[in-house]
Amino acid sequence: MKTDYKNWVPKGMICGLIAGTGVLGAGLATSIVLTKDASKPVRIAANSILGGATLACAIGAQWSVYAYGQFSYNGKRKLSKQIIEGTAGYVDIPEGGVGLDVGCGSGALTIACAKRNPRARMMGIDRWGKEYASFSKELCERNSKAEGLKNTSFSGGDATHLEFEDETFDAVTSNYVYHNISGVSKQELLIETLRVLKKGGTFAIHDIMSKGRYGDMKAFKEKLMAKGYEEVRLIPTDDGKFMSKTESRRLGLSGSTLLVGRK
Ligand SMILES: C[S@@+](CC[C@H](N)C(=O)[O-])C[C@H]1O[C@@H](n2cnc3c(N)ncnc32)[C@H](O)[C@@H]1O
Repeated sequence: MKTDYKNWVPKGMICGLIAGTGVLGAGLATSIVLTKDASKPVRIAANSILGGATLACAIGAQWSVYAYGQFSYNGKRKLSKQIIEGTAGYVDIPEGGVGLDVGCGSGALTIACAKRNPRARMMGIDRWGKEYASFSKELCERNSKAEGLKNTSFSGGDATHLEFEDETFDAVTSNYVYHNISGVSKQELLIETLRVLKKGGTFAIHDIMSKGRYGDMKAFKEKLMAKGYEEVRLIPTDDGKFMSKTESRRLGLSGSTLLVGRK
């Protein structure tokens, strides 16, 4: 049995964009023929709207094929693998302890942490919605089995309201999840994740922590330190650590940062 961590760019999105480009392109060709004898304003309006939509869809399709290739576990670049393993490198769980991965997707980070901490257990939770339809609990369990692991478990859960008591876990981690969650302050999501971390436990949270999304993260770091958190660091990962600046811009990952430390 082989692992299949799927891709952060869903295949369905690529197929939809390619099909959309085809349909809109055909619509544009038809419109050019049908409006041949129409007045100039009608011709320009109809064809420029369809032309713009076709172009936007074609650019989206081209970007998604590029991003899919860069992220793919089977491609040359393997950026997802680098980010997952890089983030897991900060997750230390004491013997017999339990770590939590919030928004585990296909189980990649949960599994990387479980492999790094073989004497501990890792739990992955996710809400597994429509936007990442290829990710599921069953996929996580298959991947864990394919890796030969026995120290993982997966269950449904929501990052905005974790169904765990305060201080349940010995480590908490997450990768590229919170920026997807709209209508909630990202700093509140971090606080909710840190709520379930035991005193003394480590955290490693990786996401696009741009000011527009997360607000003032330097002030957030100071707030944690004032509460007694230790070794808190904000580590940019888009400046060569996980990816180059150019790569991060091309892939829409500018501002990628690791928040690490000890509670
Ligand atoms: C880009 S994927 C990353 C998956 C995984 N962390 C990884 O690194 O491969 C984002 C994941 O966040 C999950 N997610 C989004 N909103 C969530 C929420 N409110 N609670 C739990 N998971 C959520 C999605 O279902 C998806 O699996």
